[in-house]
Amino acid sequence: MTRLWLLLLPLLAACGWMWDQPKVKTFREAPLKVETSPERVRFGENLNPEVRLGLKPEGGFAENPFAFTGDDLLRGKALFQSFCAVCHGVRGEGDGRVIPLGMPKPRSFHDPAVRGQPEGYFYFAATNGFGRMLSYKSRIPERERWLIAHYVKRCLLLEACPKEVGNAEVY
Ligand code: HEC
Repeated sequence: MTRLWLLLLPLLAACGWMWDQPKVKTFREAPLKVETSPERVRFGENLNPEVRLGLKPEGGFAENPFAFTGDDLLRGKALFQSFCAVCHGVRGEGDGRVIPLGMPKPRSFHDPAVRGQPEGYFYFAATNGFGRMLSYKSRIPERERWLIAHYVKRCLLLEACPKEVGNAEVY
């Protein structure tokens, strides 16, 4: 008889309402807060052609509507290195790490034809894509695309970059 009870014990244990137990360990707070910038425009929300295409209605590249500070520029560097440098290289020379793997090689930003372009040219390329390069419109918000353009023009092409931004190691 005792033997039979022993056999039934595991079955009885399974009768408890296991899905209704108090949690022993409470959830911890999310370590990363997700914050969206107030200027952030939701996809499809803004029909202004200067924002949407990076072109003035009368023609020509749009102008940067944001005033960026040194701290912003540091973020521009981080964004450029995250989104663009895999192909364009950290100095924009078209020698990113995926080029030897078969990605078409983009023209160097230091090529005279690119070097002389305004900031809006880089915003335009990031917004609409360029030839075989895809568009970053839905991946990078408007302000951040301008920030990347501003970083490329000021730090890589004009070499008018604050020293601490130029020397900073960003990942
Ligand atoms: C996956 C690779 C890749 C990434 C990432 C990339 N590009 Fe490109 N980009 C290219 C290629 C390839 C071309 C040349 C396309 C062509 O000529 O058909 C190009 C062209 C350009 C041009 C035009 C250069 C010229 O010849 O006048 C600009 C400006 C540019 N990219 C900016 C950017 C910016 C800004 C970013 C980051 C937001 C970026 N690219 C990210 C591959 C990339």
